[in-house]
Amino acid sequence: MAQQDDLFKNIVSHAKEYGFVFQSSEIYDGLGAVYDYGPNGSELKNNIKTYWWKAMVQMHENIVGLDSAIFMDPQVWKASGHVDAFNDPLIDNKDSKKRYRADVLVEDHIEKINQKILKDVSKAAKRFGEDFNEEEFRSTHPNVTRRQEEINSIEARMKAALENEDLVDFKALIEDLGIACPVSGSKNWTDVRQFNLMFNTQLGNIAGEEGKLYLRPETAQGIFVNFLNVLNTSRQRIPFGIAQIGKAFRNEIVARQFIFRMREFEQMEMQFFVRPGEQEKWYTYWKEARLKWHKSLSLGDENYRFHDHLKPAHYADNALDIEFKFPFGFKELEGVHSRTDFDLTQHQELSGKKLQYFDPELQESYVPYVVETSIGLDRMFLATLSSCYKNEDLGEGNSRVVLALPPVLAPVKVAIFPLTKKDGLPDKAREIFNQLRLDLNCQYEEKDNIGKRYRRQDAIGTPYCITVDHQTLEDNTVTIRERDSMEQERISIDQVRQVALEKCSWGKVLQ
Ligand code: GAP
Repeated sequence: MAQQDDLFKNIVSHAKEYGFVFQSSEIYDGLGAVYDYGPNGSELKNNIKTYWWKAMVQMHENIVGLDSAIFMDPQVWKASGHVDAFNDPLIDNKDSKKRYRADVLVEDHIEKINQKILKDVSKAAKRFGEDFNEEEFRSTHPNVTRRQEEINSIEARMKAALENEDLVDFKALIEDLGIACPVSGSKNWTDVRQFNLMFNTQLGNIAGEEGKLYLRPETAQGIFVNFLNVLNTSRQRIPFGIAQIGKAFRNEIVARQFIFRMREFEQMEMQFFVRPGEQEKWYTYWKEARLKWHKSLSLGDENYRFHDHLKPAHYADNALDIEFKFPFGFKELEGVHSRTDFDLTQHQELSGKKLQYFDPELQESYVPYVVETSIGLDRMFLATLSSCYKNEDLGEGNSRVVLALPPVLAPVKVAIFPLTKKDGLPDKAREIFNQLRLDLNCQYEEKDNIGKRYRRQDAIGTPYCITVDHQTLEDNTVTIRERDSMEQERISIDQVRQVALEKCSWGKVLQ
């Protein structure tokens, strides 16, 4: 665990040192759970957005894009249920004065039990080798079955407490499990209370409730209220989807773990409108499609798992998370939610406008059902950064930090170096740089020795470094160094563009 903590600390400081992520308002000691993206961070973030947008919009004829405003009529949030039900159960520790999400405390406790099960499973897998049958082991080994029953019973009790809004039993559950405050170690807890997560502000010069505006806590509502506009202008027929990328705001109680849980963050959401009764089929489709999108980046298939929700949000009849193995354990990266016709029906009722679709095949009108995919851009950024960060031992006392980013996501695709600052090498290197940057994000560097320049590019994940030397002036060839293998080859300048474009092609991950 301590090793994982160190790894996470190293990633956070690497993100700052190399211009990926800075604390917001740092010169004023920083604003909690708000972050800024630096020069390399904004490139990486944009590339993740492009990957998502291409996969969802460009590669699906039946998905179109949208960019709706952050501010919306406050009635939107009344209709969506966020004013009344977008709450987290919170609890304070009286000794440390720290505030926690009550459900997260219980989930962390469950994860500890789960880790014990995984330890037994992995020990047995080693012992039995190829003959190991994990399913049989899990259903027969007494320690594992006892722990699994314990997990099931905690989950059932938490689910009942949440569903029945029984906050007294929620506190009793925390006490019965003997959960202690991670900071003070004490079990001196306050009661559990509900806390609404929406930020609000004031419209123009209108005082009081009348002028109250919310900062959207999800981008999805912008899609729902534009359902008819898009339907009438895009010639789409059900099933079809609307996708958008944008900022969302939540007054998170527990804001920690760097950019994992922020108060201002970005979402990439898609609402897929389907015939009532077909939602289960599309839920399964999108669950698999989204996992495939993640795995195409080759960040490690073992880093993903599904987690079904015990208590789907107030708008959903089915929901799951795609979890990722962050340095602090498996946590939610993306949600897939079957949102029924809840949102459109609510908006129809409150606005008085019909939000229906006439199905030419069925010859009837209905309020469509919706399957949503919703991924946090910042979490995707953290998943990418943390799984690609490697501290490599090169032998003989040498090491390097390398970000083994998928080339399509790398902030800089090619770095171009003149070997020295003399003999016309910089001019030649600039000529190549000017040619390549028309198609690829490139960097020209002449400062420091070549080894240091390679290390700097490794640390930001640049797939290729091109070096111009004296031989270049004679035969128009350069050395090209590949980031992961560190191997160098001599190739003709004319080939460089093709080699780099091939490696960084979107086609590699979109197929
Ligand atoms: N429209 C549905 C919705 O918003 P959600 O599960 O609350 O569902 C979707 O959020 C995704 O947004 C999450 O899977 C996560 O990646 C991201 N997310 C949610 N809260 C976040 C926060 N405070 N900071 C960063 N990302 C967050």
